[in-house]
Amino acid sequence: MNQLHRKDGHLFVEEVSLEELARQYGTPLYVYSQAALGEAYARYEQALLGLPHLTCYAVKANSSLALLQYFAKLGAGFDIVSGGELARVLAAGGRADMVVFSGVGKTAEEMRMALEVGIRCFNVESESELQRLDRVAGEMGKKAPVSFRVNPDVDPKTHPYISTGLKENKFGVPISQAPALYRRASEMAHIEIKGVDCHIGSQLIDLSPIADALDRVLGLVDTLSRDGIRLKHVDIGGGVGIRYQDETPPDMSAYRGILHGRFKGRSEEIIVEPGRSLVGEAGVLLTRVEYIKAGEGKNFVIVDAAMNDLMRPALYDAFHEIVPVSETKAEPLACDVVGPVCETGDFIGLGRQLAVEEGSLLAVLSAGAYGMSMSSNYNSRPRVAEVLVNKKEIHLIRERETLQGLMAGERLVY
Ligand code: LLP
Repeated sequence: MNQLHRKDGHLFVEEVSLEELARQYGTPLYVYSQAALGEAYARYEQALLGLPHLTCYAVKANSSLALLQYFAKLGAGFDIVSGGELARVLAAGGRADMVVFSGVGKTAEEMRMALEVGIRCFNVESESELQRLDRVAGEMGKKAPVSFRVNPDVDPKTHPYISTGLKENKFGVPISQAPALYRRASEMAHIEIKGVDCHIGSQLIDLSPIADALDRVLGLVDTLSRDGIRLKHVDIGGGVGIRYQDETPPDMSAYRGILHGRFKGRSEEIIVEPGRSLVGEAGVLLTRVEYIKAGEGKNFVIVDAAMNDLMRPALYDAFHEIVPVSETKAEPLACDVVGPVCETGDFIGLGRQLAVEEGSLLAVLSAGAYGMSMSSNYNSRPRVAEVLVNKKEIHLIRERETLQGLMAGERLVY
């Protein structure tokens, strides 16, 4: 994150000291930089400048209301995957007509909710979903705006759990079946064909799969147009990857080149649905060292954050850089950084070298995406607080959950 820097040996986000934030709000704590969010959004706007487009922030990456509100203020649309995410976008002041709705399992209730508020488009992922949508829209006397999410069968060269565009993945309809599906949809009374959509995977470090997928999708657009079905937009799915360790994230000017090269002279609007690259590097997770335990041949730095707060290391074996917030004179220690949850998979980082002491504060970097939004209450741990920093200003955007709150909604039986 460009907004993270050291002053006299202490880490700051923008003009705010992380030690100070931890003192004020406790740990674990998610901290975001507003400037970093804005810069990340501007990189997409810059890449798409000169082409008709809409940047729809993928809410799943981080669905905290204040972040949604900030993106809405910047002019973003939103990519949602549930009624819950739609409710959040609306509560944050986002515009319904700038929302696209993805996901393989939309319920009739979610469809009704989205039709009621008038979203921009449903990204339909199967024929059964299309039929349900036609029926639900008919019952409401409305027409549902639709794109098909096609599966271009392109290897995104990323972690298998976050690849979505291969034919063995559950997402989308095979691109070969798409023309027949579009024809069927064009005959439905309550469906209005708007566009086409694809999403091949997340944390894409290589741009060539995006270019290949786009070529296949544009080939489909041209085939459909010859059949008299003219699409208004092409949704190219999620954004580019970010730096966690030693990756070199794609150059946005190369990304711009791919889009401008393909869309020059075409009239379709481009929709992009970036999540990770808008928020990932803008956030850190602050955690305090509770204990240092010397095991046999291994040291454990036991911190107060755990897999329930940041699930990515446990789930994907994902790497997040961990740095001391304040430099100390302690000797670097070869260690695993682990949480208090009762699972061997509860680690934040393995095989690290850290100059820390009990009580030291650590920052887990690039934690803004798929951190808070994937957190849980496992081991009955309240979810952590979140803070948004804007220069010197500090906004508490989510309070730490309380133990009482954890049990709200439950009932005793005897
Ligand atoms: N659009 C759709 C339809 C998606 O499924 C996704 C992510 C995105 C957009 C946003 O992609 P991005 O720009 O963030 O790459 N929890 C995993 C990531 C799962 C991504 C799922 N889909 C992780 O922590 O790495």
